[in-house]
Amino acid sequence: MESMSAFNISLQQGDICLSETDAIVNAANSSLLGGGGVDGAIHAAAGPALLAMCEGIPLLDGIRCPVGQARITGSGNLKCRYIIHTVGPIYSSDSESAGLLQAAYQNSLLLALANNCRSVALPAVSCGVYAYPAAKAAALTLATCSRPEFRDLKLEFYLFDETMMLIWSRALAELKAVLV
Ligand code: APR
Repeated sequence: MESMSAFNISLQQGDICLSETDAIVNAANSSLLGGGGVDGAIHAAAGPALLAMCEGIPLLDGIRCPVGQARITGSGNLKCRYIIHTVGPIYSSDSESAGLLQAAYQNSLLLALANNCRSVALPAVSCGVYAYPAAKAAALTLATCSRPEFRDLKLEFYLFDETMMLIWSRALAELKAVLV
């Protein structure tokens, strides 16, 4: 049986804007016009050029990016080449939200691959304002991002505080235990 190549996922505690990966994933909202949290931080660091690029993304029925989908732009003043904007679900229930959170990460990584990225920095999408329970999100996200089709990517998750770092570290250890 062909051996499963190991996935390349690491965790960092800190500001995703400092990442030097090829792409940074943004936890946006459907307007792609910025907001608070990591969205606000990325727009502030990238500068007004990022907003202009987002405004250039066509609206479909008044929406630039539906929940679970992703859009790619340049990065303005940031060191990375691309910013991949994805919209996670506002948590309501596992049955309603899990598939959308998986899709947000899956579509972000597919866009990264399609644009020849080799490394991607990702935040804990939906785990702030959108109130996704962090432990559930961590397990689901890491299972999605460790799938074989994404194993050529170097993935760096940026967790913004110690609590989240601990939760994601536990989830990563559990995933490795299962996959070994
Ligand atoms: N770097 C890394 N992670 C960060 C940063 C940062 N600079 N700032 C915040 N975070 C963390 C939060 O602590 C949280 O764990 O990112 C995670 C996602 O939280 P939010 O940014 O609130 O994103 P989300 O829950 O997906 O809500 C998206 O919030 O900011 C608005 O416009 C955005 O409407 C959208 C909604």
